[in-house]
Amino acid sequence: MSLADLREEYRRGALGDADVDADPFAQFRAWFDDAVAAGVAEPNAMTLSTVGLDGYPSSRVVLLKALDARGFTFFTNYDSQKGRELAACPRASLTFLWLATQRQVTARGDVERVPEAESNEYFATRPRGSQLGAWASDQSRHVASRAALDARLAEAEARFPGEVPRPPHWGGFVLRPTRVELWQGRTNRMHDRLVYARDGERWALSRLCP
Ligand SMILES: Cc1cc2nc3c(=O)[nH]c(=O)nc-3n(C[C@H](O)[C@H](O)[C@H](O)COP(=O)(O)O)c2cc1C
Repeated sequence: MSLADLREEYRRGALGDADVDADPFAQFRAWFDDAVAAGVAEPNAMTLSTVGLDGYPSSRVVLLKALDARGFTFFTNYDSQKGRELAACPRASLTFLWLATQRQVTARGDVERVPEAESNEYFATRPRGSQLGAWASDQSRHVASRAALDARLAEAEARFPGEVPRPPHWGGFVLRPTRVELWQGRTNRMHDRLVYARDGERWALSRLCP
């Protein structure tokens, strides 16, 4: 299989200037619902790109767990690589790729921790195994072996036979977007791109060349 021969024509939709909601969050919701209806696996998976401490970009997938008037919320380990990078430079971008609808959404903006009560509330809804995993994993740090990691989980299980409290190093971040871009694949690589840019209290909408 030659990589150069892999080629897909995008014919599933179009994005006219009048098709979109004036509010990017409402528009995101509509596209998210379309992705769910189209059977996209884990439609809330998004690539989070941060600014590395060495200046190189740094990307990984996390799960969107809430969308509200503030922005996009995800949960992670504050001491992880991404957590340390966000502490040093609280700016990031998110990319959603929904191939079943031939769409991409990117958002970028400023990131802050959510209030602790919010992290507590979400942590309490997680399965016990995930809660224990948050204690057992020094996310992004080297570990000697898989066996050593499993031993740490066993330690956490023994330490918390009942309710598992939220580790202080684990919680949510919310990205407040200043820019949101919708991309709809079209034929001949003449895709539609509409960008919302924050302009004070309102959003300015414009079109970009593909
Ligand atoms: C589908 C998927 C969902 C993921 N969701 C999360 C998540 O919500 N939070 C998280 O911390 N890591 C999540 N991960 C793992 C991250 O991609 C990453 O490996 C981890 O957070 C460590 O990243 P870092 O070392 O850059 O901080 C997910 C990975 C995948 C593939």
